[in-house]
Amino acid sequence: MTDTAESSSGGPEGVKTVEHQVGLFRQYLSRGDVQEQMARFLASPGGTPVEGALPQDVDGPYFVGQVPRRSDMTEGCPGLPLELRFTVLDLAGKPLEDATVTLWHCDPLGYYSGYLGMDPDEWVATATPEGVTAVEWDPPATDDSRFLRGTQPLDEQGVVAFSTVYPGWYFGRAIHIHIKVQVGGEDFWTSQLYLPEEWNKFTEKLPPYNGHSTLERLTNDYEPRLQMPGFRDMIVGLEPITPGRPELGLTGSLTLNITRS
Ligand SMILES: [Fe+2]
Repeated sequence: MTDTAESSSGGPEGVKTVEHQVGLFRQYLSRGDVQEQMARFLASPGGTPVEGALPQDVDGPYFVGQVPRRSDMTEGCPGLPLELRFTVLDLAGKPLEDATVTLWHCDPLGYYSGYLGMDPDEWVATATPEGVTAVEWDPPATDDSRFLRGTQPLDEQGVVAFSTVYPGWYFGRAIHIHIKVQVGGEDFWTSQLYLPEEWNKFTEKLPPYNGHSTLERLTNDYEPRLQMPGFRDMIVGLEPITPGRPELGLTGSLTLNITRS
């Protein structure tokens, strides 16, 4: 994108600070047409929170439809091992039938497979001195890679487990993992999971995460979604796979009570 950030980021040369990222986003949100779009979304079924259900969110710009069916989605991607287990239930506490769960997230340097041509240190937007002029919410894929993406059916107890690596970060977002539940092959519930700030801080100091040097990481406290009702319930609690040795990997589980809104 065309960006005046290099001189206005306020951080060390070439580093885009949290303040810079948040400032651009606020500028975008202040536009009249964006506020109209948001009002339409909030008035739609997808924008209405349902009592007792975890909140939904958008696919984001890096969704691809066809992903491999697998529990280990790393494909050799370097990073801190992360083992996740989910129990997916309806609002009556029953496992969803004929359901699949799909996860996708970026690598330690912020790249999504399928979009290796997109720079994670730049916003998916065009910023000029006059302001943010365009946001590309649905960019075309740039390649056929599919690492750090996987889909699996739920078992009879509504449980599914994935092996992956701890995600990195990209412009304007806290560290997150996308999740989509389909029932009968149709989209049912889509959202994003977050990870505890304690472990985000721990991981960013490890290689290869510490090679992400031109973009300051947005912490959970700056993530706009995590200031909205219900979204903090999407933070997955984690602990070391091997007690006392977090550098060997982390594990966590979450029960997702969901419904189509
Ligand atoms: Fe994302």
